[in-house]
Amino acid sequence: MNDASMHLRFLAACAIAREAGCLARDRFLTRDEALTLKFKGPQDYLTETDGEVERLIAGRLAEAFPDDAFFGEESGGSFGRDVWIVDPIDGTADFARGVPYFCVSIAFVRDGRAEIGVLYDPMLDELFAAQRGKGATLNGQAIKVSPIDDIRQSVVELGWSSRVAFERYAALMQRVNDLGAGIKRRGSGALGLAYVAMGRQDAYCELHINSWDAAAAVLIVEEAGGWVNDFLTEECLAKGNRVIACTPKLRAVLEKAMEE
Ligand code: IPD
Repeated sequence: MNDASMHLRFLAACAIAREAGCLARDRFLTRDEALTLKFKGPQDYLTETDGEVERLIAGRLAEAFPDDAFFGEESGGSFGRDVWIVDPIDGTADFARGVPYFCVSIAFVRDGRAEIGVLYDPMLDELFAAQRGKGATLNGQAIKVSPIDDIRQSVVELGWSSRVAFERYAALMQRVNDLGAGIKRRGSGALGLAYVAMGRQDAYCELHINSWDAAAAVLIVEEAGGWVNDFLTEECLAKGNRVIACTPKLRAVLEKAMEE
């Protein structure tokens, strides 16, 4: 694939993420306050908006790039040589409960390697974007990870889901706390990673996260000068993986803390 085709995909991903995010924001602002919450499983929320936003993104991508494969959190799909990996709303639990902290995530992966990563937070109008080798941006301005190199001055977000036994998460939290880090837990792994990329926090770690939640954001962290473990393995595409993303100097201490 030549540079022009890749750049076209990058521009399309940015435009589609914005359009999809605006749809999610409209649904969020006009949702029924007395809405009946629906679940796919324990603590796993299902909203009609996830499906609606994913259909919009899938449709736009299929029109523009009919030969590319598509895999979305809600509808699944297939993994081809060129594949779009999409989470229509990362932070679904917050979205469903009326908390304005969620984003759209779109990654383009070629030969198993993320080439494009775009996240859009429609409530703050923040578009995080990266193309491999070209740096990372927030609303068009270059971003970099923080210069923090002492874990005792750091803010580390620890993601958790019911896919991992709570005891393992609690033990990780204990180890990170013992190192002296300030621990955060918010509701969107994708935004948590993007916040590492632009220095709002210094690390994001999770024992298991799905490819659609993190594929785009991991590239954004790398392109912002951060260090990330070998996240997007072949197995990760369908089954997920652990993620450690941080400022380069925190790598050794956090890799050790993530050992169980
Ligand atoms: C979840 C969020 C959460 C992370 C979980 C994800 P969803 O994705 O990113 O922060 O800790 O691992 O499953 O369900 O909001 O798309």
